[in-house]
Amino acid sequence: MHIIDSASSLQEHCRGHARDGRSIAFVPTMGFLHDGHLSLIEEGRRRAEILVVSIFVNPLQFGEGEDLDSYPRALERDGELCRQAGVDVLFVPNSVELYPGGFQTKVSVAGLAAGLCGAARPGHFDGVCTVVLKLLNLVHPDLAIFGSKDFQQLQVIRAMVRDLHLDLEVVGMPIVREEDGLAMSSRNAYLSPPERAQSLALVEALRLAEAMVEVGERNTESLREAVISHIQTRELAAIDYVELVDAATLEPSPVVFSAPVLLALAVRFGSTRLIDNRVLAPR
Ligand code: PAJ
Repeated sequence: MHIIDSASSLQEHCRGHARDGRSIAFVPTMGFLHDGHLSLIEEGRRRAEILVVSIFVNPLQFGEGEDLDSYPRALERDGELCRQAGVDVLFVPNSVELYPGGFQTKVSVAGLAAGLCGAARPGHFDGVCTVVLKLLNLVHPDLAIFGSKDFQQLQVIRAMVRDLHLDLEVVGMPIVREEDGLAMSSRNAYLSPPERAQSLALVEALRLAEAMVEVGERNTESLREAVISHIQTRELAAIDYVELVDAATLEPSPVVFSAPVLLALAVRFGSTRLIDNRVLAPR
């Protein structure tokens, strides 16, 4: 496994593979790898000859007062996991490498990035799009792989790729969960034992809504109320948002829905913000 920390070396290295006709898969991450990340890495390993993974805690996508400084890091362990997973190239730049003095460009997707986490975290998706486009320009992959745990991020990146004519396939992968159902996240490491126990309210609320839809509920307001009531049974949970939106456009869904809706949750436990989602499809 090549470990590369310079942008120009990464570009040079990947250009060589492309010249030799090898297909490249790319998985961008912020590290502190868990089985969710590893599911994307395995998919990349399966689908291309060369697999590139990046680990970069991107300052541009963190707002003021967010957890940039405390974001969990474990570079050595991550490197070992990547090696075991058959990663060919691990890109680990520092901030100055990607944002040298004078850096002044921003990539912004307007509509899809406006609601949900975009409303709760102003500027977040500009930061995500900017770094992802930079990384795609360094790697030039045939496919880039993202998780649907960050459903809005996946849709925003799909829009950017389409709108800017980027020549690659965006692959979306299912949410990987802990045995008890909590969606895996690097941020789960922040949870205290009581918070960890109460965090199950998110997946329980998604299951509750799904069960309601299965027996015929089609009213988004009733579903939203049921989800909120369930989460509020946990005293450590503070709801950031509970939204039901059109799964394709992320725009408000009609009160009575007939097309798939995305149920998206963001809930704080102390200073830890967890997100989860499920697409509810009427049969
Ligand atoms: P990060 O949170 O490290 O996630 C990297 C990738 O792993 C994302 O595509 C995310 O959706 C996916 N992922 C995280 N948890 C998952 C889970 N439980 N199941 C399946 N996939 C999961 O998302 C980012 O980093 C950054 O915003 C990034 C795209 C790297 C840009 O900085």
